[in-house]
Amino acid sequence: MRPDYATEVQQELVLAVRRYWAGPLYGAVVERAARRGLPGPGEDPAAGAERIERELADDLAYQAFGWLERNLQVVKYTGPRGLMKAGARMAGEVTAELDRAAAICPDRLDLAPGVTAPGYYTETDFHLMPGGIHSRDHDGLVYEWAAGSTTMMSNEAVEVHDGLAAHIAALAPGRVLDVGCGFGRTVLALARVLPQARIAGCDLSAPALRLAHRHAVGEGLTVELARARAEDLERYADGSFDVVTATMLVHEMPPDSVRAFLRAASRVLTPGGRLVVLDFYLIPGGALGMFFHLGHARRNGEPFMPALLGLDLPAELAGAGFAAAAIAPFPPGSDPDGLPGRWRLPWTLIEATAGPDGGADRDAA
Ligand SMILES: C[S@@+](CC[C@H](N)C(=O)[O-])C[C@H]1O[C@@H](n2cnc3c(N)ncnc32)[C@H](O)[C@@H]1O
Repeated sequence: MRPDYATEVQQELVLAVRRYWAGPLYGAVVERAARRGLPGPGEDPAAGAERIERELADDLAYQAFGWLERNLQVVKYTGPRGLMKAGARMAGEVTAELDRAAAICPDRLDLAPGVTAPGYYTETDFHLMPGGIHSRDHDGLVYEWAAGSTTMMSNEAVEVHDGLAAHIAALAPGRVLDVGCGFGRTVLALARVLPQARIAGCDLSAPALRLAHRHAVGEGLTVELARARAEDLERYADGSFDVVTATMLVHEMPPDSVRAFLRAASRVLTPGGRLVVLDFYLIPGGALGMFFHLGHARRNGEPFMPALLGLDLPAELAGAGFAAAAIAPFPPGSDPDGLPGRWRLPWTLIEATAGPDGGADRDAA
């Protein structure tokens, strides 16, 4: 299901400008910061990021960088040939196609209408997508069309979802749950590399789950999809998975929700099972890297991204019943310190092993 030709042309234009933004324009901001002696040697990342923000406020390259970062998202969704309009024009066709797919293996898709979404989820326009991705049937498709130029996956040496699935496959799990699976990038990749395993995915977005199901049945993959809150994973029994994973979920949750998710993950994991979270936590490039990351959060509709950095994740993981936490840049071998040569998201792999007690026992204690 593709948008009309004129919409595709506009998206190509957005992506072309975004490449210029992520390469030469980003480079110009770095160079102009250096000319002003920014950041100072060994400057604290958080304080330094604020100082750089203040001192570059009058810099034309930084003004253009910030303006484009926000407004390319706006144009992408709501411009004259924006994705929201294309999705709305195709709404009937999309619903018919998702209904057709839903009728195939219907036992593998449970939209659980009784599960309510937290207020922060329904009230935030993540990535500046008006209305979020949870209410209209075509929202999942619009999100899929938009995703590549939001995350700039084209700046990565490997497709991160495939890289993550390969990493998890090496653990040889028999049962894997992908939380916040969206339209299925990680969960489908997992089903491809672990054909014998039980692969499940959950999300709060019914439209995204319907699209993920369509992809799964279209590819002949067996994936159980269901609506569930990451905060409680209520539908899943204690100890029912060997791996719980989540890609780009926790930066969209406020700290209390992240804590609740860690406890829920610990509960549904079998003792010794592995939590494998791919998100944005270790920020390379010191104060300048932090300046770009916090600016991205502000300009891209990511209100909880900064709060994730404030969490002491090793301590939070231990508090949720996990041991052996390992937090490292992703893909393995990425430079943990230097500022990237092009703009990229600070992919971080956060892993830990579920303890013998299980989260449910601890919650009851
Ligand atoms: C940035 S998207 C990532 C989607 C997918 N994991 C991927 O990598 O393409 C975040 C996803 O998490 C889901 N999500 C956010 N908060 C959630 C929550 N509290 N419970 C379940 N899913 C949630 C959103 O609906 C969305 O599909």
